[in-house]
Amino acid sequence: MSVEGVRQWRTDRARAGKRVALVPTMGNLHAGHEALIAAARGQADTVLVSVFVNPTQFAPGEDYAGYPRTFENDLATAGSAGADAVFAPTPEVMYPFGSGNATQVDVPALSGMLCGASRPGHFRGVAGVVLRLFNLVNPDAAFFGEKDYQQLLVIRRMVRELFVPVEILGVQTVREADGLAMSSRNRYLTAAQRSQAPALYQTLERAAEALGDGAAVAEVERAGVSELEKAGFRPEYFEVRDAQTLAAPTANHDRIILAAARLGRTRLIDNVRIAG
Ligand code: PAF
Repeated sequence: MSVEGVRQWRTDRARAGKRVALVPTMGNLHAGHEALIAAARGQADTVLVSVFVNPTQFAPGEDYAGYPRTFENDLATAGSAGADAVFAPTPEVMYPFGSGNATQVDVPALSGMLCGASRPGHFRGVAGVVLRLFNLVNPDAAFFGEKDYQQLLVIRRMVRELFVPVEILGVQTVREADGLAMSSRNRYLTAAQRSQAPALYQTLERAAEALGDGAAVAEVERAGVSELEKAGFRPEYFEVRDAQTLAAPTANHDRIILAAARLGRTRLIDNVRIAG
């Protein structure tokens, strides 16, 4: 679909009084994306999936070039999961003046910490492309996975601050049978790394249990880093935060433990919520 095609598609849906949901993706659709599409289907009359590997959210040296592109499979998966249409623009369509000098959207309150600390500019790229998609599609609702929890909060904040009329809905992380969160990047793991990878979620679960039993935040964070190192990871962060603001946690508030760690060249992220 072209930009004109998307706009026409949206206008037709508006005329028919349809509630439109958008599921933004970078393709390589897996069961996690299928859950987003199914959730969207349950909340809207019609679902558009976007497939776009967004260059502006990759730092130099990251996996933009090698990011898995599986468009034919994605079309079939999106359709069987319940999508009505797929929008797969080229970089030239999304960034008509080039991606290097594109207008940017910054959400400074949430973008410099955690994943943003090790991936400078990443959330600026995410916010920029998601706002472009919102402006093109004008969806009533948009669906994002809770695995990328910081991203979800960045988008919620952007929408609120910029008065974008869209409802943002988070969808629970889908896991493999052994607990590993579904991610397109899991396919980078070697067989040996794949068998180590569930330790990330297991470590988060143990940390959540320890916090529930009254362990101190600093101790839980220290133990998390040390357990990940023992399991063969190179941890980037393992932190307990307030689940609404990502600030340092305060007692009796919803908390979340977030972690990012590398196994070889693969960077994995995951999180576990703890109800306050
Ligand atoms: O989560 C993703 O797949 C991407 O960051 C998103 C939201 C599609 C923006 O490119």
